[in-house]
Formats: sequence, structure tokens, C-alpha cells
Amino acid sequence: MPEIVYTDHGATSFPKAPGVSAAMADYIDHVGVNVNRGSYESACQAEETIYDTRALACRLFHFDAPARTYFTPGHTYALNQVIRGAVRPGDHMIISPLEHNAVMRPVTELQKAGVQVSMLPATTDGTVDPGDLARLIRPNTKLAVMVHASNVTGTILPIAEIGRICKERGVPLCLDAAQTAGHVPIDFAALHLSALCVPGHKGLLGPQGIGIMQLSKDFAKTLSPIVTGGTGSASHSLTQPSYDPDRFESGTPNLPGIYGLNAALKFILQEGVDGLGAHESALTARFLSGLKSLKGFRIVGRASAYGRTGVVSLDFSPKDNAEVADRLSEEFGILTRCGLHCAPCAHQAMDSFPGGTVRFSFGYGNTLPEIDRVLEAIRIICEE
Ligand code: ALA
Repeated sequence: MPEIVYTDHGATSFPKAPGVSAAMADYIDHVGVNVNRGSYESACQAEETIYDTRALACRLFHFDAPARTYFTPGHTYALNQVIRGAVRPGDHMIISPLEHNAVMRPVTELQKAGVQVSMLPATTDGTVDPGDLARLIRPNTKLAVMVHASNVTGTILPIAEIGRICKERGVPLCLDAAQTAGHVPIDFAALHLSALCVPGHKGLLGPQGIGIMQLSKDFAKTLSPIVTGGTGSASHSLTQPSYDPDRFESGTPNLPGIYGLNAALKFILQEGVDGLGAHESALTARFLSGLKSLKGFRIVGRASAYGRTGVVSLDFSPKDNAEVADRLSEEFGILTRCGLHCAPCAHQAMDSFPGGTVRFSFGYGNTLPEIDRVLEAIRIICEE
């Protein structure tokens, strides 16, 4: 069996940050208690870890409110909370064509229920024009949801400009940072965000099943919780607490996940997102430069290393993309994600629907010699 080269960081990062598994095991083996329910010492210690994790997320995203830094059971949940909690039948919302199904599916359901939805047109290199957004805003526009970088093309969207327009026109902007948190610096205030949704298990190098949602004060007030239940607080009351973070955190939290995320965030802050991003940019530049001397595929999206993450999609048609991905894994040990990447509209916009692509996505654990191995495997497959 060839040695494995993991190039599927867009799906989930591997390996995780040093200390993640130890922190999770420490919670399970030595702490084990619930929070907000008992007043004994170990429960208080676990609460301190939760608070510390909120504070670490605030430092990373330049956000000033730990109480409005909520833990969610994943990224899809956070996006659903923002979307379903913000718009009602008769309201209007704007999305980009690069959105993942975590946005597209709740939005489609809401559309069927009477929410008006506008989708920005895509530019040829897989991004959007902020001027188009300005033209689509209506008096009843209640939300714009934008992915920070496409999980198909890796192109980074002009979020600072989009945020400026949204702020000027009074439209709350929710940023889906699934493919950028831990890869690209994110500043909540500078981007004029109302909501930021982040998965723990991708660029943050933490475990699965834990996500972060941060909300601005004004937006949080207008958002309805989509799930209510026990919070360990105000137990006499049959209604959801009106204060944060309890308002959006019902039920026992994923404590092993939070402990793991705590270790992951410490690692990211210690390494610095700039440093991690620079490593990924160097890998991506080497890959794109090596592809120039090869034939037999189309790069779907931007061919330059500028303004993108370490996600690169190749369409090998008329070869079957699934067959290419299988050969990469079986013969060369190279793990990719093939198909439509739960982002059918992105593929439609990039003219790679329904055939999809083979997606290579690089991350912190990859090395330049691994990129050369991937290029060599592509050369061999394409020259046959
Ligand atoms: N959305 C993840 C991906 O792009 C799962 O693979």
C-alpha cells in the first residue's frame, strides 16, 4: 500500500492540532461532569474551560463578546439557527451562488414557505461582484448569507466590501467561514458582520460535532432560537432565558468537543493564522505551478494562487472524475473528495455540473514533497 497523502482538508482536517485528543480524553477520563447544573468544584472547573474557550474564539475572530460566542452542535446547525431564526415568510434574503447545502437546503425550504430569495450572479473566476449585491437589496431584505471561500474553487469572496455595503444599507450579514477559519484572518468588526459561523473540525483543527456561532448585539436581539430547552438557568421558568449565551445553548453541551476545541484554538493562536495560511499558500502555489506543465484536466475556478485558499478542483472529463479519484486513492494513496461537494449551485456556476470535480484541499499537515507526489500521480493518470 502506498503511503497516504491526505488532501481532503476541505472535508475535515487531519491530523488534528497537537493536544486535541489528550484534552478530550482528559475530560472523559478525569472530569466527566455536566456544567451549569452542579455547584461542586469539578463542575466549576468545566465551566471555566467553557468560558476560556469562548474567550479564545473571541481573540481569534477579534470579537468582543464571550457571552455572544455560542457553541453549537456543528456548523450546519449554526447556519440553520441564523437563517431560520432571522427570516419569515414575506421577508427577502440574499445568498451567493457558491453556498454549500448547509445554506441552500434551509433557504430552499424557507423559499417554499414564502421567503423571497435572490442569488447573486457568479463571476467567471468563481466569486461575486459586491455591486450586484447592492442592486439586489430591497426594503424587506432581512439577511445576506455569504460563504467566505468556496469549498469547490477555493476563491475568497470580497467580504470586506460586501460587509461595508450591508452595513450601509442596514442588512445583517452572516459569514459562513467553513473553509476559511484557521486559514485566513477573520475580524468580526472589520468585516461588518452580524453573524459568524465556524466549524470546529476544519481549519481550526479541532474535533467534529462542535461549532461556534458569534452574533452582534443588535442581530442577536432579533434572532429567534430554533431550539429551546433546559439551560441549567432559570429552571422555574417555562420560557427560554432572554440572556446570552443561554438563549441559544439548550441542552447538555458537547463537553469533550469543547475541551478539544480549547486545545485546538490555543494551537491556532500560538501558530498564528498568518503562518498557517502562508504554509497552505506555498503548497497551493506549488500545486498550481506544477499543473501548468500537465494536460488532461480543467482547473475549475481561479488558476492563480492569488485570493484563494488551499482548495483546488480539477475536472478530468472526458475521463470519469470518480474513476480518477479512485485511482488516486487506490494506486497512489492520495485522498481527495470527488463529485459535487454538497455545493450543486457552485458547480452550476462554474460549469462543472453534474459531472463535478476531483477536489484537492491542502492543510497544515501537508508538505511540499507530498504536493510533488500528487502532481506525479496526476501526470501518470493523464498520460495514459
Ligand atoms: N462541506 C464539506 C466539504 O466541502 C464537507 O467537503
